[in-house]
Amino acid sequence: MYFPSYRPRRLRKKENFRRMVRETKLSVDDLVYPLFATFGKNVKKPINSMPGHFQMSIDNIVKEAEKAQDLGIPAILLFGIPDKKDESASGAFIREGVIQQAVKKIKDKIPDIMVVTDVCLCEYTSHGHCGMIEKGDVDNDITIEILAETAVSHAKAGADMVAPSAMMDGQVGAIREALDEAGYENLPIMAYSAKYASCFYGPFREAAESAPKFGDRKSYQMDPANIDEAMREISLDVEEGADIIMVKPALPYLDVIRRAREEFDLPLAAYNVSGEFSMIKAAAKLGWIDGEKAMVESLTSIKRAGADIIITYFAPEMAKLLRK
Ligand code: PBG
Repeated sequence: MYFPSYRPRRLRKKENFRRMVRETKLSVDDLVYPLFATFGKNVKKPINSMPGHFQMSIDNIVKEAEKAQDLGIPAILLFGIPDKKDESASGAFIREGVIQQAVKKIKDKIPDIMVVTDVCLCEYTSHGHCGMIEKGDVDNDITIEILAETAVSHAKAGADMVAPSAMMDGQVGAIREALDEAGYENLPIMAYSAKYASCFYGPFREAAESAPKFGDRKSYQMDPANIDEAMREISLDVEEGADIIMVKPALPYLDVIRRAREEFDLPLAAYNVSGEFSMIKAAAKLGWIDGEKAMVESLTSIKRAGADIIITYFAPEMAKLLRK
């Protein structure tokens, strides 16, 4: 097919033609909406760097989950901010923890929405690392035991799926085994398989108050330069029992999403992280970019790259737009 017999512009001339040959279509079914739960009553504390997002007490989280349900969003992803942080991350796995209570209240009120819980320790440790510190570094094998205990506590509270994000070796296997032992063999795991040590998590760390007090996360999260290693990480999670695999962040790693799509046949999630959201919001506020168009183009690109599930702070905004 060569010019002039083939002219690609012919099918671009009219919107209806463009609709007919469009290869990628976003749907509300693709979206997962992250929320930040905190203790208290009627708390709705704005997160500066993430316009439209808040730390919310459980009563308000329930209302927000109801809104998500009304918009047709199939799932929310819960992060917790405990009232006190300690060395042993006890707020992560206790029965009265913020996530455990939030899950219970949401499922009581809105049983249909899928409640996914982040399983990590960084929001709960006084030092802000994703695991237990031994001799100045995060200890892998102690941490995975605590992650497993945390996952089981979420399951007991009624979570529909757990999403381990600590990037510890063997975490998916440890969680699978603990869930099975506790009788939750039907509870799926969405594994943050290829999670990079990214500066794009900056706004999230303000939101979750989880910035590390010393050092960085490079000894457990992946080097942004690596893609072969991402495939090895995903293989490990598949073997350990992941039901959904994930690449995170999304936009700077579309090549990783594409390759994961081609090499693995499990459902694939991509996390359009806080920094990706905040950059668009900031540029739009300055009048430098059309925020709504940038949102649609970004999310479409993530889906085109191969993601089946997109975790995004744009979820309610995108869902509203899709309803029009
Ligand atoms: C760890 C976790 C992080 C994010 C999700 N889970 C932060 C981190 O690894 O520092 C980041 C999400 C985002 O930036 O939107 N519990």
